[in-house]
Amino acid sequence: MRWAIVILAVVVLASCAKQPLAQAAVDLKATNISSVTGLVTFTQYSDRVRIQAKVFGLSPGEHGFHIHDNGDCSAPDASSAGGHFNPFQEQHGSRSSDHRHAGDLGNIVADDDGKVVLDIEDAHITLQGDHSIIGSAVIVHKDADDLTSQPNGNAGARLACGVITTVEQN
Ligand code: CU
Ligand code: ZN
Repeated sequence: MRWAIVILAVVVLASCAKQPLAQAAVDLKATNISSVTGLVTFTQYSDRVRIQAKVFGLSPGEHGFHIHDNGDCSAPDASSAGGHFNPFQEQHGSRSSDHRHAGDLGNIVADDDGKVVLDIEDAHITLQGDHSIIGSAVIVHKDADDLTSQPNGNAGARLACGVITTVEQN
């Protein structure tokens, strides 16, 4: 009986640890120079955010993939989304760098059909608190992010834009 209680407690704790704390989604819409579309979801866990994306209509290869400051995709070229989301006044960098804009999610890689399926985790961004990414925008770029050029990795024009919006959990 005592062991049963211990096992039950372990199972309950394990399921709590995996329970998402918050979720957000992004409907990526094409800018005036592309037909790129897609869907991005962000799932907050205690110490990290899972980022899943499907993007369609790209040229094969690498494309810069960032969170930008303003949740405003109204300009035809998505310039209204502003620069990279950077609440801690860091320099532009790669996703794996300790010093980077929080919005620096590196590159996504499209296959020969122009499709991306992404499933990564990141500990720099959060869906909660003062520096939440909710209300910012996700941008997909024409060119690869070189991960070093300031202030934006030279990723070129904006092909798709979408606002990061909270998803209510059941
Ligand atoms: Cu960008
Ligand atoms: Zn950046």
